Amino acid sequence: SKKHKVCIVGSGNWGTTIAKVVAENTKENSDIFEEEVQMWVFEENFSFADNSKHAAETKNGPQKLTQLINKLHENVKYLPDIPLPHNIVANPDIADTVKDATILVFNLPHQFIAKVCTQLEGKILPFARGVSCIKGVEVSPDKGCELFSEVIGEKLGIYCGALSGANIATEVALEKYSETTVAYDPPTVDSPTSTSDQKSKTALQPVPKEYPPVDHANMHKLFHRPYFHVRLVSDVAGVSLGGALKNIIALGAGFVDGLGWGDNAKAAVMRVGIMEEVKFGKAFFSTVRTKTFTEESCGVADLITSCAGGRNFRCAKMSVAEGKPISEIEERELNGQKLQGTSTAYEVNAFLKKQGKEKDFPLFTAIYNILEGNKRPQDIPALLYKSNL
Ligand code: NAD
Ligand code: 13P
Repeated sequence: SKKHKVCIVGSGNWGTTIAKVVAENTKENSDIFEEEVQMWVFEENFSFADNSKHAAETKNGPQKLTQLINKLHENVKYLPDIPLPHNIVANPDIADTVKDATILVFNLPHQFIAKVCTQLEGKILPFARGVSCIKGVEVSPDKGCELFSEVIGEKLGIYCGALSGANIATEVALEKYSETTVAYDPPTVDSPTSTSDQKSKTALQPVPKEYPPVDHANMHKLFHRPYFHVRLVSDVAGVSLGGALKNIIALGAGFVDGLGWGDNAKAAVMRVGIMEEVKFGKAFFSTVRTKTFTEESCGVADLITSCAGGRNFRCAKMSVAEGKPISEIEERELNGQKLQGTSTAYEVNAFLKKQGKEKDFPLFTAIYNILEGNKRPQDIPALLYKSNL
């Protein structure tokens, strides 16, 4: 029988970490998966600092990032100092990366996915399956608020699930204990009664019988590591929304921490935040289950870790403490990594405005207004509470 060929579309801080996880597993489960994992890299030139242990590599000038990754087995720009398995192959050519892949793992900042999907149209196997590790939502005037699993699934005509959890990339890369949630619920191709929420299900092609099934058991084999505990669920919308919306809340936690208001203030923002996550999910995605937010890693646990040490939290805190725009802090602190919370706050607000529901989500609305300069972080308490007497 044939084996699954897995590729990773994206190679940032989290993209490279997931490539490492997956490549360790394809090697250990070589009865199911081909060992080699192609990883698409948005190509750029890279130079080491003079005091780097690798400085000699670029003494004659900058080198291509893909060449450095393949030679040193390290993503020297986005995941430095983490040795990568040698079965990861960095590839600057997106069509070549996905050629013959039966499982595609999408892992890149959400602002780039539309262009990437356009580049991929007509280039992938029609029966391929996808998993989106992207934390964000896409808002458009005609389609409203869409999950990236849906955007990818519809654009490419494949089924796409989601992986999201309390997963600061560096900690997972260092093999420190973490857990994550994988949502995978493809419609049974010949069963029209499936509960799947993907709109393009009528076009879905079955995975040919020569391949091992792409099911929960094999998804577990692809992502679970002794240091990375996977729980499989069917609520793709809940898993995707938890990851997207907590980025807005983490900005709020950063804003109040930047004011020096302490842990109680942060906890208040998190409490209101998780309520708004559930309310948003229930209001706009019929299949969402409350317990995905309250019981799984992709919900409350991701909110906690992101508000403790995520990039959105850290940059928001510095922006308030230093009185500088968050975009300036992002540029200065993240070395090319991207914040997702700022754009998600704007996207969610555009959607809520259109629905006439801004007032029902006071925290999401407050964060948007602070980013816009209409309100100040100091206004957060007054914006959050209506009397409940
Ligand atoms: P990142 O923040 O490290 O972003 C850098 C990546 O963006 C690089 O691979 C870079 O090549 C790429 N890029 C830059 N310009 C581009 C362009 N024009 N077109 C295509 N790619 C371009 O990315 P990440 O941390 O891998 O994040 C990917 C997703 O994973 C995000 O949705 C994020 O929220 C989520 N996530 C991140 C973490 C984390 O700790 N980093 C953890 C869990 C989930
Ligand atoms: P940041 O993008 O804010 O670093 O969040 C990382 C994350 O998603 C942790 O689960």
